[in-house]
Amino acid sequence: MLERRSAGDVPPKPHIALRGSSGALRYEECITRAGFDGPYSIVYHEHRPHEAEPTEIHHGWQILGGRPAHGLTRHHFKTFEQRQRGGPALDARVPLLENDDLALSVLAPDSEDPAYFVNADGDELLFIREGGGVLKTQLGELRFRANDYLCLPRGLLHRFVPDTTLAQDWFSIESAGAIAIPRQYRNEVGQLRMDAPYSHRDFRAPEFTGPSDEGIRKLVVKRGHAFYGFRYARSPLDVVGWDGSYYPTAFSILDFQAKVGMVHLPPTAHATFALPGALVCSFVPRPLDYHPQALTCPYPHSSVDIEEVIYYARGDFMSRKGISAGSLSLHPAGIPHGPHPGAYEASLGGGRTEELAVMLDCARPLRVTAAALAIDDPSYHHSFVAPGGSHSIG
Ligand SMILES: [Fe+2]
Repeated sequence: MLERRSAGDVPPKPHIALRGSSGALRYEECITRAGFDGPYSIVYHEHRPHEAEPTEIHHGWQILGGRPAHGLTRHHFKTFEQRQRGGPALDARVPLLENDDLALSVLAPDSEDPAYFVNADGDELLFIREGGGVLKTQLGELRFRANDYLCLPRGLLHRFVPDTTLAQDWFSIESAGAIAIPRQYRNEVGQLRMDAPYSHRDFRAPEFTGPSDEGIRKLVVKRGHAFYGFRYARSPLDVVGWDGSYYPTAFSILDFQAKVGMVHLPPTAHATFALPGALVCSFVPRPLDYHPQALTCPYPHSSVDIEEVIYYARGDFMSRKGISAGSLSLHPAGIPHGPHPGAYEASLGGGRTEELAVMLDCARPLRVTAAALAIDDPSYHHSFVAPGGSHSIG
């Protein structure tokens, strides 16, 4: 890129209404590099730019390994229809999406872990959509509840004791690299800046309880995507004290202090955790953009380096219909995406959103597991085509 260029009709600000001579609303497409951090252009279309549908085309060269079986389409996985995810947390994860950086799973643990667990493959970020309980570690006990993120560093010896009086519904992000606070939220001494979307007081650490013996001697270690068993002669919860920066934390998504702009802010404004190859963002209830002509729902866009995943916790999602609590969507790179028919037009004029969701922008292509395909909504890709919309591929 040499310099910024501009051509044709554009409105005075991004993300506000642009109309043609007949009064018809034009449709933005934001084409962005590096998620929403790199160079970008905003393109204005006469028609909704994300309506192309899959079809057989006999062009292209031979690629070793072939195409993924699930094709290149938008997906809606109905995780609430996934039934094989009970039992202890250690056994209950059902992986749905994965690449070399991370694995995304759902689980609904309904009993306590019968063994201690060490994940030597990576950090884990759990979002507790429903439920709660206690995380028992050598560093103490960390109580958690619905709407919490739980951040477990790699190698932490732990055991989950879910509250069996509550329904549990958890979303797991297992990361090969460290899960961290985004660098831009810290000042030069490492303290969270005053304009960060959370403060130190929002994060909870384990309460140290001293040595204890739960009578459990079994340990499971995950390394290299395999599980290995060990047996202790004594309780491993024998720590008499500790000091340092390595420990699990809990943070309620409802404590995320969302930013609101005059016009729509990109998802990076909602960045909550950073991990190699992905950014985790929190969409929380908030007032919407306040420009009188603001298009407040997410505009159509092609985030050309990024696979976008959203786990919907609750609330209404103004840009997407047919989405429920527990829905998981995948919008792959390579095709644009945007609001459902009518949502763009209906979003003019501000107001408020009550949405609650966890979003991931993932750098590497995600593989869809067989378990995910079994709960895939086959009508989802087509649901973005407006009645009478042009969607033929020649
Ligand atoms: Fe998006």
